[in-house]
Amino acid sequence: MTTQPHLFRPLAMRGLTLANRIAVSPMCQYNAIDGVPQPWHHQHLGSLSSSGPGLVMVEATGVTAQGRISPGCTGIYSEACEAAFAGVLRTVRATSPSAVGIQLAHAGRKASTNVPWKGSGPLTADDGAWETLSASAIPFAPTWHTPKAASRADMDGVVAAFVAAAGRAMRVGFDLVEVHSAHGYLLHQFLSPFSNKRTDQYGGSPENRMRFPLEVVAAVRAAWPAEKPMGMRISASEWTEGGFDPDEAVRYVKAAKALGLDYVCVSSAGNVHDAKVAVGPGYQVQFAEKIRRETGIVTRSVGMIVEPHQAEAIVASGQADMVALARAFLDDPRWVWRAADTLGAEAYCPRQYLRARPNLWPGAKLRMKAAAE
Ligand SMILES: Cc1cc2nc3c(=O)[nH]c(=O)nc-3n(C[C@H](O)[C@H](O)[C@H](O)COP(=O)(O)O)c2cc1C
Repeated sequence: MTTQPHLFRPLAMRGLTLANRIAVSPMCQYNAIDGVPQPWHHQHLGSLSSSGPGLVMVEATGVTAQGRISPGCTGIYSEACEAAFAGVLRTVRATSPSAVGIQLAHAGRKASTNVPWKGSGPLTADDGAWETLSASAIPFAPTWHTPKAASRADMDGVVAAFVAAAGRAMRVGFDLVEVHSAHGYLLHQFLSPFSNKRTDQYGGSPENRMRFPLEVVAAVRAAWPAEKPMGMRISASEWTEGGFDPDEAVRYVKAAKALGLDYVCVSSAGNVHDAKVAVGPGYQVQFAEKIRRETGIVTRSVGMIVEPHQAEAIVASGQADMVALARAFLDDPRWVWRAADTLGAEAYCPRQYLRARPNLWPGAKLRMKAAAE
């Protein structure tokens, strides 16, 4: 009897079983209009799901219009957004058996920026800049918008928006939701002593800085069906002395787990504009490993995971329970087939494409031979 590679073993969370440990990482496409996903999103998510990753994540999606990173970012705050996402999900369901999750996000002081092909910087008034919100009135970088320091009423509004977004995500039929608490966006801004200088019960000690993000986690968990998993993405390090660090991340994840969080995706950075991040193969796996070991939560690792053997080693050695890949999937939307062929596993293939698999296409052997040389 052959043993399935670890990467291709199922993973159960609540009532959902992922077919394998491979996730398509959330990736902003900057192609929405008023938050509403467009034909591009059907193409993007349909294509990336068609080799059967266990999970496909929809990009950081604003729970309010104000919380979008850019005017091109998706939102889940209107009837039109909800209806269009239902259509995108129908496309993916017709293409693939992958579970589909959505990342619920509020960009805080990093909202109101240009799309990357217009420079990513803060929008000008002529471009339609809007007021941004944060833990404190501290801009991300000197030339960026100075955000409004959130009042309790603003914070209540954000919690209510996350809850409403979870309700919309449920009606759309997503399999899971993931709260975006990483990359310098609003919840990370509360967690970090660099962006959070509050003197109330939401600032100062690590417990205080975690208080608001945990209120969001608790509210989303209460609004999201008990049989469906809920995750969170965090930045476990700011790569800057004195910042939110892996030890604080462990405390934060433990507290979120106690509130019913099912998994964490461990990323890093994004809140310190000039941080020196030591990017290299699997550079964030160390953080995932620590968090998994010290919290016992289902953990997803991400960041420069590119090769099937590398991904297999991360899961097989217990550094993480699953891996997320972003750019490797843009480079090769059939990454799951490559991994299956390399590791000796079965991968899902839509029947329309079966003639390109190695058992039916002699050309596959030529391609694999060329790749091995
Ligand atoms: C085009 C693009 C868009 C991204 N958008 C998001 C996003 O919406 N939410 C998020 O948490 N990370 C986002 N990221 C980060 C990726 O999910 C991932 O964490 C990062 O690219 C490192 O993984 P990789 O080395 O496999 O690309 C984005 C990355 C890319 C390349």
